[in-house]
Amino acid sequence: MSLRNVIMKQFGKPEGFMGRLAGQIMARRLSNIQRNRWAVGLLELKPSDHVLEIGCGPGIALNEFSKMIASGKIIALDHSGLMINSVRKKFGSLEKSGILHTIAEKIEDVQLAPESLNAVFSSNAVQFWNNPVEVFNKIYSALKPGGIVVTNYMERSKNATSRQSLDYISQLSEKATHTKFKISKIESLEMEPVSAYSLILKK
Ligand SMILES: C[S@@+](CC[C@H](N)C(=O)[O-])C[C@H]1O[C@@H](n2cnc3c(N)ncnc32)[C@H](O)[C@@H]1O
Repeated sequence: MSLRNVIMKQFGKPEGFMGRLAGQIMARRLSNIQRNRWAVGLLELKPSDHVLEIGCGPGIALNEFSKMIASGKIIALDHSGLMINSVRKKFGSLEKSGILHTIAEKIEDVQLAPESLNAVFSSNAVQFWNNPVEVFNKIYSALKPGGIVVTNYMERSKNATSRQSLDYISQLSEKATHTKFKISKIESLEMEPVSAYSLILKK
């Protein structure tokens, strides 16, 4: 396996030395930071909101949430213990204050309290879920009425194109029609090396 492929594999569940490297790449890559900031903005969070991030990685979106959530709750979930440990180190005071809660588990395995969340966010992680429809159904039950989901995707393969990003999110949108969600819309952000797309679902 090429070094590129070894690192690419780590983006699905960073572990060990190569996982640390993948975490650093995610944390520093400008396109990753831009995409996360843009997609977090689509949630239109209020200071008292309860928000869950699925696949938080090194915590770029958590950094944005920490500026917006004052009295609510931020739940950071990732099945990589390495990523959850790095987030706990970076946001220790937020966790101590009771605003941040971290969970080192697969989204497929967690139980979410019914109607407990205002928003669910996921950035370039949906492609790793075994069954997105099942996850969407789980999220639907956990959202309060009027709750929102933003999940974005940016193709990262060699010679990636914006069309591939759009095709992926369009297929995801089609899958979401098999859930109770109202499909709000697909939003796009033109950027380099390819455009990013977000699927927005509302309960
Ligand atoms: C490509 S990284 C993106 C990380 C972060 N969202 C970002 O934009 O920088 C995908 C992350 O999702 C996590 N992940 C993948 N599948 C998951 C699942 N089924 N449950 C929980 N976390 C998952 C991985 O461990 C990894 O940290």
